[in-house]
Amino acid sequence: MERREKLYEGKAKIIYATADPDKNILYFKDDATAFNGAKKGTILDKGIINNRVSARLFQMLAEHGIESHFIEQLSDREMLARKVAIIPVEVVIRNYVAGSLAKRMGRKEGEKLPQAIVEYYYKDDALNDPMINRDHVLVFNLATAAQIDTVREVALKVNQALSEYLLARDILLVDFKLEFGTYHGRILLADEICPDTCRLWDCHTLEKLDKDRFRQELGKVEEAYLEICRRVCGEI
Ligand code: TMP
Repeated sequence: MERREKLYEGKAKIIYATADPDKNILYFKDDATAFNGAKKGTILDKGIINNRVSARLFQMLAEHGIESHFIEQLSDREMLARKVAIIPVEVVIRNYVAGSLAKRMGRKEGEKLPQAIVEYYYKDDALNDPMINRDHVLVFNLATAAQIDTVREVALKVNQALSEYLLARDILLVDFKLEFGTYHGRILLADEICPDTCRLWDCHTLEKLDKDRFRQELGKVEEAYLEICRRVCGEI
C-alpha cells in the first residue's frame, strides 16, 4: 500500500491517504513538542520507536479483544490504519499521581491511586485541550452517551491489559492518554500508544522512561525511548 496525498500533519505524525478510502498511512516523525507546542525539539529516532511500540501494543490489545485502527506496520516510520473519524475527546487514565493531577490536587508524584481515574479533555489545540466531563461531551455533541460509555469501558480494559503487559517487563504504567474514533458504526481505539502518550516508570527504581524526560529536561531522552522499545518489543 502506497502513500497518496497528505491529509493532515500533526505535532508528531503525518496522515496520508491511500488508494483505499477506508485506510490511511500514519507517518511517525521525530518532532517533539510539550506544553501545547510551547516547547519544541526532536528526539532522534522517536518516530521509529513510537511506530514499533504502538504496533506491538495494538497487537497485544487485539489479542485481548480490543479493536483498534491498527492494520499493520509498513516500514520503520509507517503504519497502515483504518480511517477513523476521531472523537474529539482525549481520554486520560491514571493509576498513580503524576503530572497535572499532582498539580491540581496538590499531591506528590508517585502515590498509588485506590482505583483508576478516567479523565476527559476536549481535543482542541486553540483552547489548550481543556478538561471536561461526561456532561460536556453530551451537551456539546462530542460523542453520544452510548459512544462515551463504550470509550470509558474500553479505556479501562486497555488499562488492565496494558498495565499487566508492561509490569511483566518491569514498567509501571503511571498514566496514559488514549484517542478513539468511529469506523462504520464501531468505536475503535486510535492514534498511538508510546512513550509520548504514556508515563512509564521503571518499576524498581521509578526512573522516568517517557516524554517527561523531554518535558522536564531530565536528559537521556533517546536512551529512555530505546529502553522502552527494548522492553516492549524485545531486541531491536
Ligand atoms: P498530564 O498529567 O499532563 O495531564 O498527562 C496525562 C497523560 O497524558 C500523560 O501520560 C501524558 C499524556 N498526554 C498526552 O499524551 N498528550 C498531551 O497533550 C498531554 C498534556 C498529556
